Amino acid sequence: MNILLVSAELAPFAKVGGLADISGALPIGWKRIGHNPIIVIPKYKGIEEQFHILKTDLSISFTLFEKERVFPIWTSTLPHEDIPVYFIESDDLYDRPGIYGNPDGYADNDERFFVLCKSAFELMIKLDIKPDIISAHDYHTALLLPLLQFTYSKHPLFESSKGVLTIHNAQYQGWYDLQRMIAMTSWNPEDCLWKGEFNALKTGIDYADLIIAVSPSYAKEILMPEFGEGLENVYSQYSDKLIGILNGVDYALWNPESDTCIEHHFSKSDLTNKLIGKIQLNKHYFEDNIDCDKLPLIGMVSRFTDQKGIDLLEGCIENILEQGLCRLIVLGSGEERYQSYFNALQLHYPQFVSYSQGYNEQLAHHILAYSDFFLLPSRFEPCGLTQLYALNYGTIPIVRSVGGLKDSVQPFDSITQQGDGIVFQEFAKEALHNALMDALSLYHNSTMLQSIMNNAMQADYSIEKTAKEYIDEFKKLLHKN
Ligand code: ADP
Ligand code: GLC
Repeated sequence: MNILLVSAELAPFAKVGGLADISGALPIGWKRIGHNPIIVIPKYKGIEEQFHILKTDLSISFTLFEKERVFPIWTSTLPHEDIPVYFIESDDLYDRPGIYGNPDGYADNDERFFVLCKSAFELMIKLDIKPDIISAHDYHTALLLPLLQFTYSKHPLFESSKGVLTIHNAQYQGWYDLQRMIAMTSWNPEDCLWKGEFNALKTGIDYADLIIAVSPSYAKEILMPEFGEGLENVYSQYSDKLIGILNGVDYALWNPESDTCIEHHFSKSDLTNKLIGKIQLNKHYFEDNIDCDKLPLIGMVSRFTDQKGIDLLEGCIENILEQGLCRLIVLGSGEERYQSYFNALQLHYPQFVSYSQGYNEQLAHHILAYSDFFLLPSRFEPCGLTQLYALNYGTIPIVRSVGGLKDSVQPFDSITQQGDGIVFQEFAKEALHNALMDALSLYHNSTMLQSIMNNAMQADYSIEKTAKEYIDEFKKLLHKN
């Protein structure tokens, strides 16, 4: 099967969050089970300097707002994999700080992502590749689906292609000005009008042959107003083409025995180096090192948005820190209110809180690998990848039972000794407080701690499994008609 994947993010070239990891991992999974993925992303600022990518002698051109535009094509492969990645060059659109222009988004994101999607089709024509599946991800590349329907469905290369939309996050939808979209695309306004505007995600949903939410629970949750972000009725209308497939992990990258971002490797049978790593992390990131090997270390690595449940911490964790019961190490950036909160927390409890603001791939791996617990108290979580990574390092997830967290972390039962995490239900400070206290008492019971760590490290969320589930669905689609 030829599978064209187009995404706004792709690890390691351009990453903000989990979308990048999955856009990189899925094709690896598909390739490992015998298929041919081709990836297309924008050539963002800095990629050329940081990575080995080559300018090809290919370029594509089309008319945009009545002007003929030319887009040179660059190429590379995923690291250590023979999977082609094509980069669309357009400095006026992509050579900017940041991928999205957060917090409000660049005013021309409609054009930036439309160009990406249309270029992907034009590139397939240039390369004479017939994609069986066109794999779109979130609102940014949801425009592939109306493009397939309205612009390319009669083209011999695409006449039997199927369009699949993976929803990583229903909160972001791409609300664009309808007139501008019509001017750019020449589509019929009646085919894409939604609440007086153009909603990229909604339009993608309308024209997708299949919609995949990134976990089975999230596929159900988005049918409800609490999670559907205004599109719950639309999802319900299309429930016969909506499924959930849990994301997976490329264990070649996230592995305690071989992770190239950590120095002290360890395994299920020998955890000595996990403790050494923890002590080192404590030394580097905290003011003073009293009994750091005996004090539980709770890690967080997160984009700071209201999704991630950081609001629950305030007025809850302070009580625990006051008593010096644990240390908290946090890496993340995003909304100012959360950054200020962690800065203030660190200032107030310098012995017990360390906060690193910003994006730091290496530190993310250190925290995930060497902490005792990993905290994700999300308000909603389509899948969540960090809890999957944490499990593989024997770092026990403390999560709220929602979305993919619910599907991937089994609550530990002290009687049966089954389960691999601490799970709480309600989005409430008290529920989080109880979960944290449970975690801390578990930490001091070495038999139970060993059991839960062992269970965690046995969990298998490999990307090959996820990729195979996608392929099974793709096959069903292609045999339809
Ligand atoms: P989301 O996509 O909602 O942010 P996920 O759990 O799916 O959440 O994926 C987050 C990814 O981004 C993980 O690979 C995580 O390690 C990474 N990440 C998040 N914040 C940072 C940060 N500040 N520095 C480095 N990596 C980060
Ligand atoms: C989104 C979601 C996250 C998911 C990731 C990858 O950013 O917030 O839960 O794991 O996409 O699918």
